[in-house]
Amino acid sequence: MRWLRNEAAPSRRCDRNTVNTEKYGDHDEPEFRRRRHHRPCHQPGREYAPRQCRRQRVINGTTDVNQLVPFKHKWAWEKYLSQCANHWMPQEVNMQRDIEQWKTGQLTEDEMRIVKRNLGFFTTADSLAANNIVLGTYRQITSPECRQFLLRQAFDEAIHTHAYQYIVESPGLDEGEVFNAYQEIKSIRDKDEFLIPFIDVLTDPAFKTGTLENDQKLLRSLIVFACIMEGLFFYVGFVQILALGRQNKMTGAAEQYQYILRDESMHCNFGIDLINTIKLENPELWTDAFKEEIVGLFKKGVELEYAYAEDTMPRGVLGLNASMFKEYLRFIANRRMQQIGLDPLFPGVTNPFPWMSEMIDLKKEKNFFETRVTEYQTGGALSWD
Ligand SMILES: [Fe+2]
Ligand SMILES: [Fe+2]
Repeated sequence: MRWLRNEAAPSRRCDRNTVNTEKYGDHDEPEFRRRRHHRPCHQPGREYAPRQCRRQRVINGTTDVNQLVPFKHKWAWEKYLSQCANHWMPQEVNMQRDIEQWKTGQLTEDEMRIVKRNLGFFTTADSLAANNIVLGTYRQITSPECRQFLLRQAFDEAIHTHAYQYIVESPGLDEGEVFNAYQEIKSIRDKDEFLIPFIDVLTDPAFKTGTLENDQKLLRSLIVFACIMEGLFFYVGFVQILALGRQNKMTGAAEQYQYILRDESMHCNFGIDLINTIKLENPELWTDAFKEEIVGLFKKGVELEYAYAEDTMPRGVLGLNASMFKEYLRFIANRRMQQIGLDPLFPGVTNPFPWMSEMIDLKKEKNFFETRVTEYQTGGALSWD
Protein backbone atom coordinates (compact mmCIF):
# COMPACT_ATOMS: atom_id res chain seq x y z
CA MET A 1 0.00 0.00 0.00
CA ARG A 2 3.01 2.29 -0.45
CA TRP A 3 1.16 4.38 -3.01
CA LEU A 4 -1.44 5.27 -0.39
CA ARG A 5 1.41 6.50 1.80
CA ASN A 6 2.46 8.88 -0.95
CA GLU A 7 5.49 6.86 -1.95
CA ALA A 8 6.42 5.94 -5.49
CA ALA A 9 3.60 4.06 -7.18
CA PRO A 10 4.28 0.69 -8.81
CA SER A 11 4.91 1.09 -12.50
CA ARG A 12 4.34 -1.40 -15.25
CA ARG A 13 6.99 0.34 -17.26
CA CYS A 14 9.96 -1.01 -15.30
CA ASP A 15 9.25 -4.64 -14.90
CA ARG A 16 12.84 -5.92 -15.34
CA ASN A 17 13.91 -5.61 -11.73
CA THR A 18 10.59 -6.20 -10.11
CA VAL A 19 8.41 -9.08 -11.08
CA ASN A 20 11.22 -11.63 -10.97
CA THR A 21 11.11 -11.51 -7.18
CA GLU A 22 7.53 -12.68 -7.00
CA LYS A 23 5.29 -15.15 -8.66
CA TYR A 24 3.07 -13.01 -10.81
CA GLY A 25 0.65 -15.77 -11.57
CA ASP A 26 -0.55 -15.99 -7.96
CA HIS A 27 -4.16 -14.99 -8.40
CA ASP A 28 -5.03 -15.45 -4.77
CA GLU A 29 -3.83 -12.01 -3.80
CA PRO A 30 -5.28 -8.68 -4.84
CA GLU A 31 -3.27 -6.89 -7.48
CA PHE A 32 -2.03 -4.04 -5.29
CA ARG A 33 -0.89 -6.36 -2.52
CA ARG A 34 0.81 -8.73 -4.93
CA ARG A 35 2.97 -5.88 -6.16
CA ARG A 36 3.91 -4.44 -2.78
CA HIS A 37 7.53 -5.54 -3.17
CA HIS A 38 7.82 -3.65 -6.39
CA ARG A 39 11.01 -1.60 -6.68
CA PRO A 40 10.58 1.19 -9.24
CA CYS A 41 13.58 1.39 -11.50
CA HIS A 42 12.52 3.86 -14.14
CA GLN A 43 15.00 6.67 -14.73
CA PRO A 44 13.67 9.93 -16.21
CA GLY A 45 14.32 10.09 -19.93
CA ARG A 46 15.21 6.43 -20.20
CA GLU A 47 13.60 4.47 -23.03
CA TYR A 48 11.39 1.81 -21.48
CA ALA A 49 8.39 1.14 -23.68
CA PRO A 50 9.80 -1.63 -25.91
CA ARG A 51 10.85 -3.75 -22.94
CA GLN A 52 7.53 -3.28 -21.18
CA CYS A 53 5.60 -4.19 -24.33
CA ARG A 54 7.49 -7.43 -24.77
CA ARG A 55 6.37 -8.60 -21.33
CA GLN A 56 2.73 -7.62 -21.77
CA ARG A 57 0.71 -10.65 -22.74
CA VAL A 58 -2.98 -11.48 -22.85
CA ILE A 59 -2.45 -14.27 -20.30
CA ASN A 60 0.41 -14.87 -17.86
CA GLY A 61 1.79 -11.38 -18.48
CA THR A 62 4.41 -9.95 -16.15
CA THR A 63 3.52 -6.29 -16.35
CA ASP A 64 1.37 -4.11 -14.10
CA VAL A 65 -2.25 -4.46 -15.18
CA ASN A 66 -2.99 -1.05 -13.69
CA GLN A 67 -0.83 0.75 -16.24
CA LEU A 68 -2.82 1.11 -19.44
CA VAL A 69 -0.16 2.68 -21.65
CA PRO A 70 2.00 2.14 -23.61
CA PHE A 71 -0.44 -0.01 -25.54
CA LYS A 72 0.53 -3.40 -26.79
CA HIS A 73 -2.89 -4.80 -27.69
CA LYS A 74 -4.12 -1.62 -29.36
CA TRP A 75 -6.86 -3.54 -31.20
CA ALA A 76 -8.57 -4.13 -27.83
CA TRP A 77 -8.46 -0.43 -26.95
CA GLU A 78 -9.93 0.47 -30.36
CA LYS A 79 -12.75 -2.03 -29.88
CA TYR A 80 -13.40 -0.57 -26.43
CA LEU A 81 -13.74 2.91 -27.98
CA SER A 82 -16.06 1.60 -30.73
CA GLN A 83 -18.24 -0.18 -28.23
CA CYS A 84 -18.54 2.96 -26.07
CA ALA A 85 -19.73 4.80 -29.21
CA ASN A 86 -22.47 2.16 -29.53
CA HIS A 87 -23.98 3.03 -26.15
CA TRP A 88 -27.76 2.75 -25.86
CA MET A 89 -30.39 2.18 -23.15
CA PRO A 90 -33.56 0.04 -23.37
CA GLN A 91 -35.95 2.81 -22.20
CA GLU A 92 -35.02 4.88 -25.26
CA VAL A 93 -36.92 2.48 -27.50
CA ASN A 94 -40.63 3.04 -28.02
CA MET A 95 -42.55 -0.11 -27.00
CA GLN A 96 -46.07 1.25 -27.59
CA ARG A 97 -46.82 -0.75 -30.74
CA ASP A 98 -45.63 -3.96 -29.04
CA ILE A 99 -47.96 -3.36 -26.11
CA GLU A 100 -50.96 -2.82 -28.42
CA GLN A 101 -50.16 -5.82 -30.60
CA TRP A 102 -49.61 -8.17 -27.67
CA LYS A 103 -52.65 -7.07 -25.71
CA THR A 104 -55.08 -7.02 -28.66
CA GLY A 105 -54.17 -10.48 -29.92
CA GLN A 106 -52.50 -9.40 -33.15
CA LEU A 107 -49.85 -12.10 -32.86
CA THR A 108 -50.50 -15.75 -33.73
CA GLU A 109 -49.88 -18.55 -31.21
CA ASP A 110 -46.70 -19.50 -33.06
CA GLU A 111 -45.42 -15.93 -33.04
CA MET A 112 -46.09 -15.60 -29.30
CA ARG A 113 -44.29 -18.90 -28.73
CA ILE A 114 -41.24 -17.50 -30.50
CA VAL A 115 -41.26 -14.35 -28.36
CA LYS A 116 -41.62 -16.26 -25.09
CA ARG A 117 -38.98 -18.88 -25.95
CA ASN A 118 -36.59 -16.14 -27.02
CA LEU A 119 -36.96 -14.20 -23.81
CA GLY A 120 -36.82 -17.44 -21.82
CA PHE A 121 -33.37 -18.14 -23.21
CA PHE A 122 -31.93 -14.64 -23.30
CA THR A 123 -32.98 -13.47 -19.83
CA THR A 124 -30.65 -16.14 -18.41
CA ALA A 125 -28.01 -16.18 -21.14
CA ASP A 126 -26.88 -12.61 -20.68
CA SER A 127 -26.66 -13.06 -16.94
CA LEU A 128 -24.47 -16.12 -17.51
CA ALA A 129 -22.36 -14.04 -19.89
CA ALA A 130 -21.93 -11.25 -17.33
CA ASN A 131 -20.97 -13.68 -14.56
CA ASN A 132 -18.50 -15.40 -16.85
CA ILE A 133 -16.74 -12.11 -17.55
CA VAL A 134 -16.82 -10.59 -14.07
CA LEU A 135 -16.20 -13.69 -11.95
CA GLY A 136 -14.14 -15.73 -14.40
CA THR A 137 -12.42 -14.33 -17.45
CA TYR A 138 -11.45 -10.86 -16.20
CA ARG A 139 -8.99 -11.91 -13.50
CA GLN A 140 -7.13 -14.28 -15.85
CA ILE A 141 -6.46 -11.61 -18.48
CA THR A 142 -3.24 -9.65 -17.92
CA SER A 143 -3.55 -7.12 -20.75
CA PRO A 144 -5.02 -3.83 -19.43
CA GLU A 145 -6.47 -2.93 -22.84
CA CYS A 146 -8.31 -6.28 -23.00
CA ARG A 147 -9.52 -5.80 -19.42
CA GLN A 148 -10.86 -2.40 -20.41
CA PHE A 149 -12.97 -4.00 -23.16
CA LEU A 150 -14.20 -6.70 -20.76
CA LEU A 151 -15.39 -4.01 -18.33
CA ARG A 152 -17.42 -2.42 -21.13
CA GLN A 153 -18.68 -5.83 -22.23
CA ALA A 154 -19.87 -6.61 -18.69
CA PHE A 155 -21.89 -3.38 -18.69
CA ASP A 156 -23.32 -4.27 -22.12
CA GLU A 157 -24.54 -7.58 -20.70
CA ALA A 158 -26.28 -5.69 -17.87
CA ILE A 159 -27.99 -3.49 -20.50
CA HIS A 160 -29.07 -6.59 -22.43
CA THR A 161 -30.56 -8.25 -19.33
CA HIS A 162 -32.32 -4.92 -18.67
CA ALA A 163 -33.62 -4.85 -22.27
CA TYR A 164 -35.08 -8.36 -22.04
CA GLN A 165 -36.73 -7.49 -18.73
CA TYR A 166 -38.14 -4.35 -20.35
CA ILE A 167 -39.54 -6.32 -23.29
CA VAL A 168 -41.21 -8.74 -20.83
CA GLU A 169 -42.56 -5.96 -18.61
CA SER A 170 -43.89 -3.59 -21.31
CA PRO A 171 -46.75 -5.72 -22.70
CA GLY A 172 -47.16 -7.61 -19.41
CA LEU A 173 -45.86 -11.06 -20.35
CA ASP A 174 -46.04 -13.80 -17.71
CA GLU A 175 -42.77 -13.17 -15.85
CA GLY A 176 -42.82 -16.54 -14.09
CA GLU A 177 -43.13 -18.38 -17.40
CA VAL A 178 -40.33 -16.40 -19.05
CA PHE A 179 -37.83 -16.27 -16.20
CA ASN A 180 -38.25 -19.96 -15.30
CA ALA A 181 -37.98 -21.17 -18.89
CA TYR A 182 -34.29 -22.00 -18.55
CA GLN A 183 -35.28 -24.64 -15.99
CA GLU A 184 -38.52 -25.84 -17.56
CA ILE A 185 -37.94 -25.82 -21.34
CA LYS A 186 -35.62 -28.62 -22.40
CA SER A 187 -34.20 -26.96 -25.50
CA ILE A 188 -33.16 -23.95 -23.41
CA ARG A 189 -31.91 -25.97 -20.45
CA ASP A 190 -29.78 -28.15 -22.73
CA LYS A 191 -27.99 -25.10 -24.12
CA ASP A 192 -27.34 -23.73 -20.63
CA GLU A 193 -26.14 -27.12 -19.37
CA PHE A 194 -23.68 -27.27 -22.26
CA LEU A 195 -22.30 -23.83 -21.35
CA ILE A 196 -22.17 -23.99 -17.56
CA PRO A 197 -19.14 -26.33 -17.15
CA PHE A 198 -17.04 -23.95 -19.26
CA ILE A 199 -18.11 -21.04 -17.08
CA ASP A 200 -17.61 -23.01 -13.84
CA VAL A 201 -13.98 -23.72 -14.78
CA LEU A 202 -13.14 -20.03 -14.77
CA THR A 203 -15.33 -18.96 -11.86
CA ASP A 204 -13.68 -21.54 -9.57
CA PRO A 205 -11.71 -19.30 -7.14
CA ALA A 206 -8.82 -21.79 -7.18
CA PHE A 207 -8.40 -21.67 -10.96
CA LYS A 208 -5.39 -19.83 -12.31
CA THR A 209 -3.48 -19.93 -15.55
CA GLY A 210 0.22 -20.71 -15.82
CA THR A 211 0.28 -24.38 -16.80
CA LEU A 212 -0.35 -25.88 -20.23
CA GLU A 213 -3.44 -27.66 -18.95
CA ASN A 214 -4.98 -24.59 -17.34
CA ASP A 215 -4.08 -22.28 -20.22
CA GLN A 216 -5.88 -24.71 -22.53
CA LYS A 217 -8.86 -24.73 -20.15
CA LEU A 218 -9.04 -20.94 -20.39
CA LEU A 219 -8.67 -20.95 -24.17
CA ARG A 220 -11.36 -23.65 -24.50
CA SER A 221 -13.75 -21.61 -22.36
CA LEU A 222 -13.05 -18.45 -24.35
CA ILE A 223 -13.81 -20.30 -27.61
CA VAL A 224 -17.06 -21.76 -26.22
CA PHE A 225 -18.10 -18.37 -24.88
CA ALA A 226 -17.25 -16.17 -27.89
CA CYS A 227 -17.75 -18.55 -30.83
CA ILE A 228 -20.47 -20.94 -29.64
CA MET A 229 -22.45 -18.94 -27.08
CA GLU A 230 -22.28 -15.35 -28.33
CA GLY A 231 -21.41 -16.38 -31.88
CA LEU A 232 -23.93 -19.20 -32.50
CA PHE A 233 -26.46 -19.78 -29.69
CA PHE A 234 -27.82 -16.25 -30.01
CA TYR A 235 -28.50 -16.36 -33.71
CA VAL A 236 -31.71 -18.39 -34.06
CA GLY A 237 -33.29 -15.95 -31.59
CA PHE A 238 -31.92 -12.89 -33.35
CA VAL A 239 -33.23 -14.04 -36.75
CA GLN A 240 -36.67 -14.84 -35.33
CA ILE A 241 -37.28 -11.53 -33.56
CA LEU A 242 -35.81 -9.49 -36.39
CA ALA A 243 -38.04 -11.42 -38.84
CA LEU A 244 -41.03 -10.40 -36.72
CA GLY A 245 -39.89 -6.78 -36.93
CA ARG A 246 -39.55 -7.02 -40.72
CA GLN A 247 -43.28 -7.82 -40.77
CA ASN A 248 -44.07 -4.83 -38.54
CA LYS A 249 -44.71 -6.99 -35.51
CA MET A 250 -43.13 -6.33 -32.08
CA THR A 251 -41.05 -3.60 -33.66
CA GLY A 252 -39.91 -2.21 -30.30
CA ALA A 253 -38.57 -5.62 -29.25
CA ALA A 254 -37.00 -6.01 -32.69
CA GLU A 255 -35.28 -2.65 -32.36
CA GLN A 256 -33.88 -3.66 -28.97
CA TYR A 257 -32.63 -6.91 -30.51
CA GLN A 258 -31.04 -4.98 -33.34
CA TYR A 259 -28.91 -3.03 -30.84
CA ILE A 260 -28.13 -6.20 -28.92
CA LEU A 261 -27.10 -7.93 -32.15
CA ARG A 262 -24.69 -5.09 -32.89
CA ASP A 263 -23.19 -5.38 -29.38
CA GLU A 264 -22.92 -9.16 -29.56
CA SER A 265 -21.29 -8.95 -32.94
CA MET A 266 -18.62 -6.72 -31.38
CA HIS A 267 -18.25 -9.05 -28.35
CA CYS A 268 -17.82 -12.01 -30.65
CA ASN A 269 -15.20 -10.19 -32.75
CA PHE A 270 -13.31 -9.10 -29.63
CA GLY A 271 -13.40 -12.68 -28.31
CA ILE A 272 -12.02 -13.98 -31.61
CA ASP A 273 -9.18 -11.44 -31.53
CA LEU A 274 -8.49 -12.41 -27.92
CA ILE A 275 -8.38 -16.10 -28.84
CA ASN A 276 -6.12 -15.51 -31.84
CA THR A 277 -3.74 -13.33 -29.82
CA ILE A 278 -3.47 -15.99 -27.10
CA LYS A 279 -2.74 -18.53 -29.86
CA LEU A 280 -0.02 -16.28 -31.28
CA GLU A 281 1.57 -15.64 -27.90
CA ASN A 282 1.25 -19.27 -26.77
CA PRO A 283 1.45 -21.48 -29.89
CA GLU A 284 2.08 -24.59 -27.77
CA LEU A 285 -1.60 -24.54 -26.69
CA TRP A 286 -2.94 -25.16 -30.21
CA THR A 287 -2.27 -28.91 -30.43
CA ASP A 288 -3.98 -31.34 -32.82
CA ALA A 289 -5.82 -32.97 -29.91
CA PHE A 290 -7.04 -29.58 -28.69
CA LYS A 291 -8.25 -28.61 -32.18
CA GLU A 292 -10.11 -31.92 -32.51
CA GLU A 293 -11.83 -31.29 -29.21
CA ILE A 294 -12.89 -27.80 -30.31
CA VAL A 295 -14.32 -29.19 -33.56
CA GLY A 296 -16.41 -31.63 -31.45
CA LEU A 297 -17.72 -28.71 -29.38
CA PHE A 298 -18.78 -26.86 -32.53
CA LYS A 299 -20.65 -29.98 -33.73
CA LYS A 300 -22.45 -30.23 -30.40
CA GLY A 301 -23.23 -26.49 -30.40
CA VAL A 302 -24.85 -26.70 -33.86
CA GLU A 303 -26.94 -29.72 -32.74
CA LEU A 304 -28.19 -27.94 -29.61
CA GLU A 305 -29.06 -24.73 -31.42
CA TYR A 306 -30.86 -26.66 -34.15
CA ALA A 307 -32.90 -28.53 -31.49
CA TYR A 308 -33.80 -25.12 -30.06
CA ALA A 309 -34.87 -23.92 -33.54
CA GLU A 310 -37.13 -26.96 -33.96
CA ASP A 311 -38.66 -26.45 -30.51
CA THR A 312 -39.37 -22.77 -31.11
CA MET A 313 -40.87 -23.42 -34.58
CA PRO A 314 -42.90 -26.63 -34.64
CA ARG A 315 -44.47 -25.27 -37.84
CA GLY A 316 -43.35 -22.74 -40.42
CA VAL A 317 -43.85 -19.17 -39.22
CA LEU A 318 -42.93 -15.72 -40.61
CA GLY A 319 -41.61 -17.36 -43.77
CA LEU A 320 -39.13 -19.29 -41.61
CA ASN A 321 -38.88 -22.95 -40.78
CA ALA A 322 -36.48 -25.04 -38.73
CA SER A 323 -34.70 -26.60 -41.71
CA MET A 324 -33.65 -23.14 -42.95
CA PHE A 325 -31.87 -22.76 -39.63
CA LYS A 326 -29.89 -25.96 -40.18
CA GLU A 327 -28.24 -24.29 -43.17
CA TYR A 328 -27.84 -20.99 -41.33
CA LEU A 329 -26.24 -22.52 -38.23
CA ARG A 330 -23.83 -24.50 -40.38
CA PHE A 331 -22.96 -21.32 -42.26
CA ILE A 332 -22.24 -19.44 -39.02
CA ALA A 333 -20.31 -22.34 -37.47
CA ASN A 334 -18.07 -22.48 -40.56
CA ARG A 335 -17.41 -18.79 -40.27
CA ARG A 336 -16.54 -18.92 -36.56
CA MET A 337 -14.24 -21.89 -37.12
CA GLN A 338 -12.40 -20.14 -39.94
CA GLN A 339 -12.06 -17.02 -37.81
CA ILE A 340 -10.03 -18.96 -35.22
CA GLY A 341 -8.01 -20.93 -37.77
CA LEU A 342 -9.97 -24.19 -38.06
CA ASP A 343 -11.21 -25.82 -41.26
CA PRO A 344 -14.97 -25.39 -41.82
CA LEU A 345 -17.06 -28.38 -40.74
CA PHE A 346 -19.77 -27.95 -43.37
CA PRO A 347 -18.31 -27.08 -46.78
CA GLY A 348 -20.56 -25.58 -49.43
CA VAL A 349 -23.33 -24.13 -47.25
CA THR A 350 -24.68 -20.64 -47.96
CA ASN A 351 -26.46 -18.00 -45.90
CA PRO A 352 -30.27 -18.34 -46.22
CA PHE A 353 -30.76 -15.01 -44.40
CA PRO A 354 -28.56 -12.47 -46.21
CA TRP A 355 -30.67 -9.65 -44.74
CA MET A 356 -29.13 -10.38 -41.34
CA SER A 357 -25.92 -8.58 -42.31
CA GLU A 358 -28.05 -5.49 -42.96
CA MET A 359 -29.35 -5.77 -39.40
CA ILE A 360 -25.85 -5.57 -37.92
CA ASP A 361 -24.97 -2.54 -40.00
CA LEU A 362 -26.83 0.31 -38.34
CA LYS A 363 -25.05 3.02 -40.28
CA LYS A 364 -28.11 4.07 -42.15
CA GLU A 365 -30.14 7.21 -42.18
CA LYS A 366 -33.19 5.89 -40.41
CA ASN A 367 -34.17 3.19 -38.00
CA PHE A 368 -34.98 0.05 -40.00
CA PHE A 369 -38.22 -0.64 -38.20
CA GLU A 370 -39.32 3.00 -38.30
CA THR A 371 -40.58 2.99 -34.73
CA ARG A 372 -39.04 6.38 -34.28
CA VAL A 373 -35.94 8.28 -35.20
CA THR A 374 -33.32 7.66 -32.57
CA GLU A 375 -29.87 8.96 -31.76
CA TYR A 376 -28.09 6.48 -29.53
CA GLN A 377 -24.58 7.31 -30.48
CA THR A 378 -22.72 9.65 -28.26
CA GLY A 379 -20.16 11.80 -30.00
CA GLY A 380 -22.01 11.74 -33.32
CA ALA A 381 -20.40 8.57 -34.69
CA LEU A 382 -23.79 7.64 -36.18
CA SER A 383 -26.37 9.93 -37.67
CA TRP A 384 -29.90 8.66 -38.11
CA ASP A 385 -31.63 11.99 -38.64
FE1 LIG B 1 -25.47 -9.85 -24.29
FE1 LIG C 1 -22.20 -10.48 -25.18
